Amino acid sequence: MDNENRFAKDLLDWYHANGRVLPWRSEPTPYRVLVSEFMLQQTRVDTVIPYFERFMDRFPDLASLAFAEEDEVLRLWQGLGYYSRARNLRKSAQKAVEKYENEIPSDPTQLRELPGVGPYMEKAIRAFAFDIPAVPIDGNLMRVYSRLIAASVATDDAKAKKAAESYFLERLLSPREFGQALMDLGELACLPSGQPKCDRCPFATVCKAHATGRELDYPLKKAKSTSPVERRSVLLLLDEQGRVAVSKRPEHGLLASMNEFPNVVGDKAALQKVYGPIDLEYLGHKTHVFSHIKWEMDVFLGRGVLKGFTYIPVSDLKEKAALPTAFAKLLSILPVGR
Ligand code: ADE
Repeated sequence: MDNENRFAKDLLDWYHANGRVLPWRSEPTPYRVLVSEFMLQQTRVDTVIPYFERFMDRFPDLASLAFAEEDEVLRLWQGLGYYSRARNLRKSAQKAVEKYENEIPSDPTQLRELPGVGPYMEKAIRAFAFDIPAVPIDGNLMRVYSRLIAASVATDDAKAKKAAESYFLERLLSPREFGQALMDLGELACLPSGQPKCDRCPFATVCKAHATGRELDYPLKKAKSTSPVERRSVLLLLDEQGRVAVSKRPEHGLLASMNEFPNVVGDKAALQKVYGPIDLEYLGHKTHVFSHIKWEMDVFLGRGVLKGFTYIPVSDLKEKAALPTAFAKLLSILPVGR
């Protein structure tokens, strides 16, 4: 057996013995792979599993998702974050139903025309759903590659991604399993932090980083930029029945079309300037980190009824309103029974 086939054989043997059993893998229909890949963008497998199961119960096929109300899809997504994914997933389902006769296409150009499907997802869907030779390069694969060859370029370099892709494509067998096997190798053995478990890795004898004991030096680190911080004041405004005021965010931008509590950039005075001279009781401080910005939120309790807001019982917020985690986490400091 030549070296390339040896690599695939060792990887796939390892995967069959050690790979994770995941719901989208045991029944990898194009629809299930599409949904799982949308959910897995920026989100860990353990977090995704229960969301995936609930989603499949409610929307078992492409058509059920295409004809669903956006609000219902967003509610099922609540807590997963990056809500534009949910909107794009539904739009992708609609496009597949209308334009591709109720099928998810396997053609790369057609796949890329689905909203939210970028180059990574296009490759993941072609490989994992259609068993077409393609390798989506994520952080795990980049790390495995960087260590295997002791790569001398940082991983954010576009050329490094291409090089990793070519390296794996040359060794590829069984596309449906190959990329997912590498993901698991990165997750279970070739760990991102802490000492990697090279005794569990089928490539320990050929890995260049392992040969010199310098696994942790790879991938080479890129300079880190810190997210900007925004100070916000948020108002938990209760009416006489103890229901809380929410309104819908704009259709575009951060947390588009999700619900929010009244809030402003700035301090308590800024809040009173926008919402009027309401008595405010300071409840506490919460932080929420998005991909590109961090909110430092001071939370205030107030009483009254403002125009333009809907009042919802606190107990219904999770079930009936698409309330993103950034706001849902503030409810933990709302005093009970007030
Ligand atoms: N991340 C993205 N796609 C994945 C998959 N199919 N399995 C595990 N992690 C993933």
